[in-house]
Amino acid sequence: MTEQVYKTVLIFDSGVGGLSVYQEIQSLLPQLNYIYIFDNQAYPYGELEQNTLIKRVEACITTCIENNPVDIVVIACNTASTIVLPSLRAGLDIPVVGVVPAIKPASSLANKAIGLIATPATVTREYTHELVRNFSPNKNVEMLGLTRLVDMAEEKLRGKPVDIQELTQLLTPLIGIIDVAVLGCTHFPLIKSEIAQVLGSEVILVDSGKAIARRVQQLLQLETGEERGVKHKILSSALPWQESALNEKVGKMGFSPVQNLVIPLT
Ligand code: DGL
Repeated sequence: MTEQVYKTVLIFDSGVGGLSVYQEIQSLLPQLNYIYIFDNQAYPYGELEQNTLIKRVEACITTCIENNPVDIVVIACNTASTIVLPSLRAGLDIPVVGVVPAIKPASSLANKAIGLIATPATVTREYTHELVRNFSPNKNVEMLGLTRLVDMAEEKLRGKPVDIQELTQLLTPLIGIIDVAVLGCTHFPLIKSEIAQVLGSEVILVDSGKAIARRVQQLLQLETGEERGVKHKILSSALPWQESALNEKVGKMGFSPVQNLVIPLT
C-alpha cells in the first residue's frame, strides 16, 4: 500500500498574528502539514519602509521553500499582502494567497459606518484606499492605524492579559460612530473578545480568516480530513522574546518549539 502524502501549507507573518489565520485553515484542513514562519527580526511590519518589507518577505519565503517541501504559501499579513503579492507570485511556481482587509463584506453589513482597524502602513496604502473606493462607495470607512494593538496581541500570546482601559483609549475614535469594524491586521482576531468588549455588542467584527481558509481549500482541491496529531514547524528570523511563554501557547496550537531560520539578506 502506498503511503498517503499530505500537502504542506506555509503561513507567513511578521509576528504571531498569522496564527489567527493558521487556526482557521487548520480547522478546515486539519489533515495537512503546516509550517509557520514569522519575521520577528523586522517586526513591526506596519512601520517598515516598503522596499525593505518586500525584500524581507521574499527572502523569508524563498529560504523556507528551499529547505522544505511547500505546496501553497499564505501571506497571513495585511501589511505585506497590500504590496508584496505581485512580485512574490511572479517568482514562485506554487499558489500564493494573501490577506487584505475585508471591506466588501463589511460594507454589506454596515448601516452606519465602518471602522477599519489596521497597522499604520495598511491604512496609508493606496491598495487599501482603492479597496474602499471599489467596495464601500456609499458607507463611510473610518481608518485607525495602531501598532500598539499589534503589540497587545503579541503580549497576549505570551500570557499577558490585554489592558481594557488602554484598549478603550486606543479605540476611542471609533466608539459610538461605527456599526461594523474590520479587523484589518491578522493580529487582531487574537484579541477579538477584548475589542468586542470595548466597541460594544452592537458592533459587528469582521476579519478575513475564514475566507482565506476557504481559498486555500479551493486551490488545493481538498475535502476536510482527519487530524493526524503531528507537530507542525514554527520558524522565526530572530530569537523571540519571552520564548518559553510563547512556546507554551504555540504548543497548544499544534507546533513544536520555535526554531530559528537564518534569512540571507543582501
Ligand atoms: N499581522 C500583520 C498584519 O496583518 C502586521 C503586524 C505588524 O507587524 O505591524 O498587518
